Amino acid sequence: DTLDAFIRGLPKAELHLHIEGSLEPELMFALAQRNRIDLPFQSVEEIRAAYAFSNLQDFLDIYYQGAGVLQTEEDFQDLTIAYFRRLKADGGVHAEIFYDPQTHTDRGLPFSVAADGILAGMKQAEDELGITSRLIMSYLRHLSEEAAFETLRQAEPYLDRFVGVGLDSGEVGHPPSKFANVMKASRERGLLINAHAGEEGPPAYVYEALDILGVDRIDHGNRALEDQALTRRLVDMGITLTVCPLSNLSLCVVKDLKEHPMKRMLDLGLKATCNSDDPAYFGGYVGDNYIRTAEAVGLTRDDLATLAKNSFSGSFLPAADKARHI
Ligand code: ADE
Ligand code: ZN
Repeated sequence: DTLDAFIRGLPKAELHLHIEGSLEPELMFALAQRNRIDLPFQSVEEIRAAYAFSNLQDFLDIYYQGAGVLQTEEDFQDLTIAYFRRLKADGGVHAEIFYDPQTHTDRGLPFSVAADGILAGMKQAEDELGITSRLIMSYLRHLSEEAAFETLRQAEPYLDRFVGVGLDSGEVGHPPSKFANVMKASRERGLLINAHAGEEGPPAYVYEALDILGVDRIDHGNRALEDQALTRRLVDMGITLTVCPLSNLSLCVVKDLKEHPMKRMLDLGLKATCNSDDPAYFGGYVGDNYIRTAEAVGLTRDDLATLAKNSFSGSFLPAADKARHI
């Protein structure tokens, strides 16, 4: 209908996307066959049926298992270009995507396999689809800070091709402060700093992301709304939040999409953006996130345009490129 056409016609950037989370069951099956890997599922339908999560950890267990079919550079390139084709269909013109090096190096792949494959897919997306992108490597927070330092060492030859670092995986019990030293070292190497905070974790973790890590963006940030002073600070600082409504619904961060805080965030003056997180697992790409959220909480066309504008102003593009898109 017309809202759908309006949203797809709105040029937008996606700022919160885990490339491993764009692995559709069909591709998972095809790669399992290509690489002669046994999956604990007999069909695509059986995989989809397993995607009923009650919290973040529930999802992460299945997500790390799914990533096991990714074995070669070609696999990672195929995964990446498939995502960008979906983004193109949703009116996306730019993306800043996460990947988790440790998910792959910990199962024996050389650091270069995922990195080279994803970078090749990004180049292909620019050449064939005209979509620009940047790559962010995320440290897995359920592992040690020393393991993150080892990842930063392995990334050394790639640092000119990474725009930043992120912090993801199970949040509760793994506060941002656990990674204070490696994030400082990452910043000193010219990388911008992201952290998932306030998805399941308390407002205190958002404070730590700001005060201890000095983040350039907050991923999710939902629970910051529980603290008025924190909310005001995020508004005053103009910090971009990469919010993911369908992820929040799938992982029971909200009980119903009608209860999603996206409208409230915009009305408070927070720099919220709308993103898909792990679209193959959460039932929709960036366009669906805009549409279903708009329908559920009553976003106006002005709100939707603000979300799209925030996706460029909050991006890590140079100022001239931001201005070109806004
Ligand atoms: N890794 C992939 N998706 C994630 C999410 N929503 N939160 C934390 N870690 C993740
Ligand atoms: Zn995420």
